[in-house]
Amino acid sequence: MRIAVVGSGYVGLVAGACFADLGHDVILVDNDERKLADLKDGQVPIHEKFLPELLNRHRGHRLEFSADLQEAVRASAAIFIAVGTPPTDRGDADLSYVESVAREISGAINGYKVIVEKSTVPVYTSDWVRKIILRNGADPEFFDVASNPEFLREGSAVADFLFPDRILVGCDTERASDVLREIYAPLTSGSYYQRAEAIPQPDRSSIPAPILVTTTKSAELIKHASNAFLAMKISFINAVASVCESVGADVSQVCHGIGSDTRIGPRFLNPGIGYGGSCFPKDVMAFRAVARECGYDFRLLDEVMRINEDQRDRFLRKVRSALWTLRGKHLGVLGLAFKGGTDDIRESPAIAIVQALLQEGCKITAYDPAAMDRAQEVITSGIKFANSAYEAAHNADALIILTEWEEFANLDLRRLQQELKYPIVIDGRNLYHPDVMAAYGFTYYSVGRAAAHAEGAPAALKNGASRA
Ligand code: UDX
Ligand code: UDX
Repeated sequence: MRIAVVGSGYVGLVAGACFADLGHDVILVDNDERKLADLKDGQVPIHEKFLPELLNRHRGHRLEFSADLQEAVRASAAIFIAVGTPPTDRGDADLSYVESVAREISGAINGYKVIVEKSTVPVYTSDWVRKIILRNGADPEFFDVASNPEFLREGSAVADFLFPDRILVGCDTERASDVLREIYAPLTSGSYYQRAEAIPQPDRSSIPAPILVTTTKSAELIKHASNAFLAMKISFINAVASVCESVGADVSQVCHGIGSDTRIGPRFLNPGIGYGGSCFPKDVMAFRAVARECGYDFRLLDEVMRINEDQRDRFLRKVRSALWTLRGKHLGVLGLAFKGGTDDIRESPAIAIVQALLQEGCKITAYDPAAMDRAQEVITSGIKFANSAYEAAHNADALIILTEWEEFANLDLRRLQQELKYPIVIDGRNLYHPDVMAAYGFTYYSVGRAAAHAEGAPAALKNGASRA
């Protein structure tokens, strides 16, 4: 099948590369000429596992890059819209990029096409896309609008795309759903998974991939509701973690206990410094706004957002209570990306916390395996960047962990202890067991668990504030 993907950001680029890997001919369209030139030149603009391999495999064969949207539409049977849908000042989604793409597509419809929303959009967007295409003169017989939201997580986007929990196809005509079923047939029939060059199957995935066909509006709602639900799960456990701290319970034991109920499940129950990224914050706000517009006051979502904001402040209070005054303190920071496995810093709670600490007069040396270049663009003074976790820790008054990178969970603790000026670790992602940290001589603070103190430390030093 010939496919156009409009917008080669995190979602569009991954979707385009994966469609090519399924055997389709793909044109990736973007209006950012520099990005296109880099892509054509073999560069990979984002840090995403398996993406360089797929781009290398298909660039110039089944995968082309172009700025000419109309030409790409004329050549394709399906056009996926994956341009950004940023939040407006009022919290709803700004759909002006989607609208301008729809307008342009209209003039190039030269036979039956399925126009597919891939970006996360509010319910009713498909109706608007349809209206805009009609208003601009396209024949209603020559197109359908469908919704095929993407559930990929950054850092594991390629694996999520190719080994999905489900493929969701929202269509209002059989003709459109046939096109989408054909596109995904290599995954739903399982034939893709038999290929020698298929990427390795992740744990927990079940193949072949199930496909759900719904109406277009249901699919739009499923996407917003899924992201809002996952964000709610994270805020819920963060609130539980706060209660754990007050009563002296251990949130990891509580998570294990709650998550063992198969109706709840253990995933997305990790407490921390709150969710970030380009999706959850924006989508919870947008879903709240859509609900309000439709006459439903979804106040639960306000609380999800409030708990999330509060989580950063609680963490900052924890840093203060561990170190007492902050002005002039030298802190090592591990992690700047909004989560592990990506270089994305959009709405990163780590960046917000670093900025707050800098404002309080801390001196920071930070390390992130992938996000330092991007961080450098937004934090311009008061921060140094290190080449390793140990370099960030060197001579620091304390080490702060802000992103759940796997490599941060596997540090050489003896070496880390030697690098730090004071062996204090404040972990916003619960990457270590408090007893292990205490055994290695650290004073260790985490989320929803009691602070642990270096074994054998004098009693007077067991209070974090006096230690600092
Ligand atoms: C996506 C989805 O679009 C969004 O709805 C979802 O919630 C998060 O992920 P993402 O892929 O992260 O967004 O966006 P971004 O990395 O900003 O990429 C969008 C791309 O579209 C950019 O490369 C931009 O240059 C391009 N674009 C934007 C166009 O080609 N045309 C436009 O009119 C606007
Ligand atoms: C999310 C959705 O998971 C995905 O289905 C959708 O397509 C896009 O939005 P993404 O934002 O890439 O994906 O990452 P995700 O793994 O969901 O993490 C989002 C944020 O929540 C990160 O800041 C992460 O650190 C945080 N998080 C996640 C927690 O704090 N605790 C958890 O248990 C899980």
